[in-house]
Amino acid sequence: MTFFIETKNLILREIRISDEDEFFRLDSDKRVHKYLGNKPIKTKEEAKNIISFVNLQYKERGIGRFATIEKSSGKFIGWSGLKLNKGEKELLNGHTNFIDIGYRFMPEFWGKGYATEASLACLDYGFKKLNYKIIYGAADVENIASNKVLKKIGLHFVNEFTWRETLCNWYEIKKENYGK
Ligand SMILES: CC(C)(COP(=O)(O)OP(=O)(O)OC[C@H]1O[C@@H](n2cnc3c(N)ncnc32)[C@H](O)[C@@H]1OP(=O)(O)O)[C@@H](O)C(=O)NCCC(=O)NCCS
Repeated sequence: MTFFIETKNLILREIRISDEDEFFRLDSDKRVHKYLGNKPIKTKEEAKNIISFVNLQYKERGIGRFATIEKSSGKFIGWSGLKLNKGEKELLNGHTNFIDIGYRFMPEFWGKGYATEASLACLDYGFKKLNYKIIYGAADVENIASNKVLKKIGLHFVNEFTWRETLCNWYEIKKENYGK
């Protein structure tokens, strides 16, 4: 399954097995995992398995995170986008089968507005193309950048909840309020 979304500075496309090396660099970086449970991956095999899992999500759920490419350099900077979270293994704030928006970039690409830019395009895709009714987001309360992005793209704070002993903020945006 292929995807293609273009923004001013970025291309969002399906994650491919050929992204393995860059994906490994992203997910083995402990700075990236600071607010994600502090468990960076250790092997390329793990990166490969995650890519295979996302590709299975594309097939079975019609959606999954997108590889995010910086247009000016052609570099893979990380991923962003929408995911159908089934909540099979653990519930997130009590929810199952919901669409959430997320992002994870390599540190050298932080602070350029890319998470905001990619996420705005993904909300548009989710509401207009895929006709989702509601999209959720969650972030560790201490992850200032992520909380800022969720608010900047128009999600509203709903409540605090605990995930793996970490206090997190829960956000949502409904289709009828999108763009208002
Ligand atoms: C979260 C993340 C994707 C943000 O990406 P980004 O491209 O730097 O985000 P943006 O540039 O679009 O916007 C971030 C906002 O937070 C601010 N910000 C960025 N890093 C910050 C930091 N360490 N402390 C405080 N504010 C920060 C930016 O200034 C910007 O705010 P502004 O528009 O008011 O200036 C990036 O930090 C990342 O990949 N982190 C590791 C993975 C992660 O935590 N993912 C989210 C899990 S919920």
